[in-house]
Amino acid sequence: MMTTPSPQPAGLHLSGNGEPRWLRCRVLQSPLAGVSDRIFRALVRRWAPDALLFTEMVNATSLELGHGRRKVEELAGEPGPIGVQLFDHRPEAMAEAARRAEAAGAFLIDINMGCPVKKITGKGGGSGLIRDPELASRIVATVAAAVRIPVTVKTRLGWCGDAGPCGQAGDGEGGASTTAAVAWCRRLEEAGAQLLTLHGRTREQGFRGRASWEAIAAVKRALRIPVIANGDVTSPVEALRCLEITGADGVMVGRGTMGAPWLVGQIDAALSGRPAPATPDAAARIALAAEQLQALVAERGDHGLLIARKHMGWTCTGFSGAPQLRHALMRAPTPAAALELLQAAGESVRAAASPADRGSR
Ligand SMILES: Cc1cc2nc3c(=O)[nH]c(=O)nc-3n(C[C@H](O)[C@H](O)[C@H](O)COP(=O)(O)O)c2cc1C
Repeated sequence: MMTTPSPQPAGLHLSGNGEPRWLRCRVLQSPLAGVSDRIFRALVRRWAPDALLFTEMVNATSLELGHGRRKVEELAGEPGPIGVQLFDHRPEAMAEAARRAEAAGAFLIDINMGCPVKKITGKGGGSGLIRDPELASRIVATVAAAVRIPVTVKTRLGWCGDAGPCGQAGDGEGGASTTAAVAWCRRLEEAGAQLLTLHGRTREQGFRGRASWEAIAAVKRALRIPVIANGDVTSPVEALRCLEITGADGVMVGRGTMGAPWLVGQIDAALSGRPAPATPDAAARIALAAEQLQALVAERGDHGLLIARKHMGWTCTGFSGAPQLRHALMRAPTPAAALELLQAAGESVRAAASPADRGSR
């Protein structure tokens, strides 16, 4: 008798090591240190409930020493898929952190091999691992063996630009050697990475220049595992163009979402052929800033105001009086004072938008 195979959920399949995962959404939210905390992620999920989001990067050694556990322990309440991003140069510490994250409810584990910050690369973590592919492979293999959920890597095209200390002739746009990028990414695949997110710049480029979607395309062609393209996607149109050029399995967006948590949902709609949700108007954006401020202060006390400042600065743009509002918000001494400024600004943009009000002037 023929048996009918049980239907598989649609989307990208990652087999894991006994605990498979399906990505239902082809746009991912970047891990953003100092930005993509639980409160920011909740806002992103309002527009993109199925998207895979990431924690801010978590240092495995710090976790071992008892620091930064909040970022992992708070996963229990996460209402959608959440990747925990780890960084370190010590394979065993990474494996232990991965086990802890898996137990806390991580959807998958992502290993950071792209961070260009000197303090991190100097110790051999982040993009520093690009210079030590042997250790990078050992980290991937050790972490993959430690957990049942999939292990992924987020990295860059290479350590440095054209010919130089890396000894590679530049043959691709963006300064990186495409051949070297392909070899590096293949190595990660062979070590057991089940998905690769590739930022189309080298460590040396930092955030300068243009991300090379062409180099990402070359890596995509060479790998069997899914490749997610990252770098300079800031709109649904750009996301579609990026996928067309790279042939990637999805896109990851970072800076474009800062102050625009609706962007992931808009891109998801465009990639799924649904009408994109509208960008919130000025009054709604100001209300969002107030909501985020209140949530941050409720969770982090007065320190929440410091975190909220940058978000308010990013969100409160594009309306008359926005520069003055941002200036005042940066100097507001208390959460209550900042909230008052936002409430007044909200009333003023609503009044300016109301035809009755315009007629009475
Ligand atoms: C403020 C900030 C924080 C970041 N933090 C992380 C991080 O924790 N882990 C990581 O892999 N990348 C981090 N990145 C890099 C982004 O995830 C992303 O790879 C990069 O910004 C390129 O994508 P974009 O052009 O869409 O911004 C950070 C970038 C910024 C601007």
